[in-house]
Amino acid sequence: MIETKNKRDRKRLESIAVHAGKGKRDQYGSHTTPIYQTSTFVFENVESGAKAFRNEEGGASHVYSRIANPTVEELERAVCALETFGLDDADEYSGMAFGSGMAAITTGILSVAHGKHIIAQDALYGCTSQFLKEEAEPMGMTVSFVDTSDLFLVEMELKQNPDTRLIILESIANPTLTLSDIEGIAKLAAAYDALVMVDNTFATPYHIQPLELGADIVAHSTTKYMGGHGSIIGGALVAKDELFENEETWVFRKNLGGIAGPMDAWLTTNGIKTLPLRMKQHAANGMKVARYLEQHPKIDKVFYPGLETHPQHKLASAVMKQGYGGMISFELSSGFEGGVTLMNNVQLCTLAVSLGAVDSLIQHPASMTHSVVDPEIKEKAGITDGLVRLSAGIEAAEDIIEDLEQALEKC
Ligand SMILES: Cc1ncc(COP(=O)(O)O)c(C=O)c1O
Repeated sequence: MIETKNKRDRKRLESIAVHAGKGKRDQYGSHTTPIYQTSTFVFENVESGAKAFRNEEGGASHVYSRIANPTVEELERAVCALETFGLDDADEYSGMAFGSGMAAITTGILSVAHGKHIIAQDALYGCTSQFLKEEAEPMGMTVSFVDTSDLFLVEMELKQNPDTRLIILESIANPTLTLSDIEGIAKLAAAYDALVMVDNTFATPYHIQPLELGADIVAHSTTKYMGGHGSIIGGALVAKDELFENEETWVFRKNLGGIAGPMDAWLTTNGIKTLPLRMKQHAANGMKVARYLEQHPKIDKVFYPGLETHPQHKLASAVMKQGYGGMISFELSSGFEGGVTLMNNVQLCTLAVSLGAVDSLIQHPASMTHSVVDPEIKEKAGITDGLVRLSAGIEAAEDIIEDLEQALEKC
């Protein structure tokens, strides 16, 4: 068993990723954890059933897979180990796996902030933002939005809303890959008795560990880098057991029903084993591609935390010790038409939404995800006509660059 406590050497994250989720030896000695593809669990007799319902064995009793499942638990241990790697109190935390990133985020929000005020980053992922704008209020929550990259604005918002229960932000946010000072926000939140939830999907614990910086809850769309192969939809939360117990987050997951399925959990755990290796290559490629795009005459702007021109480059360099991730946005000088031409001419890059897969994924929000969105809303979200988002894959960087080069020639 790999010891996860008090080990500051980040190189060991590779070992944690491979071993951390492992559970008990199964009856046949299967090397990989079996996919417990079952809805329900059989009791030996009435007494053992009653014990399981009373949770007398300790740990998670296996009664029904909407409550707990051994394959899902393996994933929960793995995500938790990665997010708490190096923390002195790592063993006080737990992971919870969900059927999607949105199930994780909404279950997390509802369990801690129902009936209360939420301060939300103004650049959250579209569905998180829509949930907070349209659905949170009828569910009894109030929400105010703020640019969390500005600590002063966060403090003003807290002063105006001293009853705030939750601040929610992303460690790296779309579309301009904005970073926020998580440590500073956590200190402010603590002074106002508020909790901080960080969606760490873009950065992953390879680059940023929000819990180490003082956040209370980490959320993930494991659909992305964690799964890593574009083969599942999934999500996760990590927080102290005490928080999950006090806020009844386990009960919310049971009753809202958003737990991950065993097959998806198994695929995600398999993906996690290579997360550090993949992130290393994603980040190396991200940097090379960003540098290439930066000097390209047909490109007006490149957003990448590793570039000196990025507004939070200094902050990124302070918290991201192993590169700057694989996500890049850039603006084409040829605007909307240029974006369409680029999309229709890439050959290696895959034309698709989502991110964090082994292959490079490219999309043009103005003609694709945001084509029906109001121009005013698009502008507010920073989605210009020529904006392109690229999730640099793990191919050879030279091949990604050659592909962009031949497609940009036509723009
Ligand atoms: C930053 C971020 N958070 C959450 C989500 C939602 O995750 P899912 O699609 O797994 O529900 C996404 C999806 O793109 C995302 O990019």
